[in-house]
Amino acid sequence: MLLKVFRYDPEKDEKPYYRTYEVEAWPSDRLLDCLNRIRWEQDPTLSFRMSCGHGVCGSDGMRINGICGLPCQKLVSAFEGEVLIEPLPVFRVKKDLIVDLDPFFEKYRSLAPYLITRSDAPERERFQLPEGQRVFEDAIRCILCACCTASCPVNQAKETEAYVGPAALVRAFRYLFDSRDEGFPERLALLDRKEGAQGCRTLWKCTEVCPKQIPVTKEIGQIKRRIYEAKKPGNEPGMGK
Ligand code: SF4
Ligand code: F3S
Ligand code: FES
Repeated sequence: MLLKVFRYDPEKDEKPYYRTYEVEAWPSDRLLDCLNRIRWEQDPTLSFRMSCGHGVCGSDGMRINGICGLPCQKLVSAFEGEVLIEPLPVFRVKKDLIVDLDPFFEKYRSLAPYLITRSDAPERERFQLPEGQRVFEDAIRCILCACCTASCPVNQAKETEAYVGPAALVRAFRYLFDSRDEGFPERLALLDRKEGAQGCRTLWKCTEVCPKQIPVTKEIGQIKRRIYEAKKPGNEPGMGK
């Protein structure tokens, strides 16, 4: 397996460069195995994030042959010839394949990713029927890998980089459509802006790359529709969900 890997250590290198590594691999290995082998056997200075190795933690998002994804989910057998490995676009490179995800999580937090309640706490938990949970069960698969946001052309453009991005909106969807949530007016104010859901131009890149097969574009569309419905005369914000 030949891997051409983006390298950059801002403390040492004047500019980024690429280094090609040759690794022995089985067809059933994943690209993450190859990267680990490089680090263990050839070059311990190569930096990348990983944890679970099985598409659960979301920490190893990177660009593989130009497409954002998780190397722990990519089988060697799916590739031919040299594979190009680069960091996620949009974010500042801290070292090699590690990017600064602080702005990603700031945007995520800006949309209140938690249940907002006003009514008194019940004696036990706030119950929800299975059909209520099914509404957002796709969204709760999100592992915050940032592949969608890094792939979105709106986030990539300098003039629209303030857009919260698809990952934050998937989580906003999850709470907007939770039957137990009582924060609709606040959510509407956060989402009905060009930096919020209205910034999405339905370009579908997010859905194409999502490693958890979440219907990201569709969910953003449902948020926009919910905003539209709420703003119709007679449906003023604050009139309930
Ligand atoms: Fe990753 Fe998909 Fe969540 Fe985006 S929506 S952060 S691509 S899991
Ligand atoms: Fe971007 Fe996805 Fe919308 S790619 S423009 S967030 S549909
Ligand atoms: Fe955890 Fe890939 S290493 S998702």
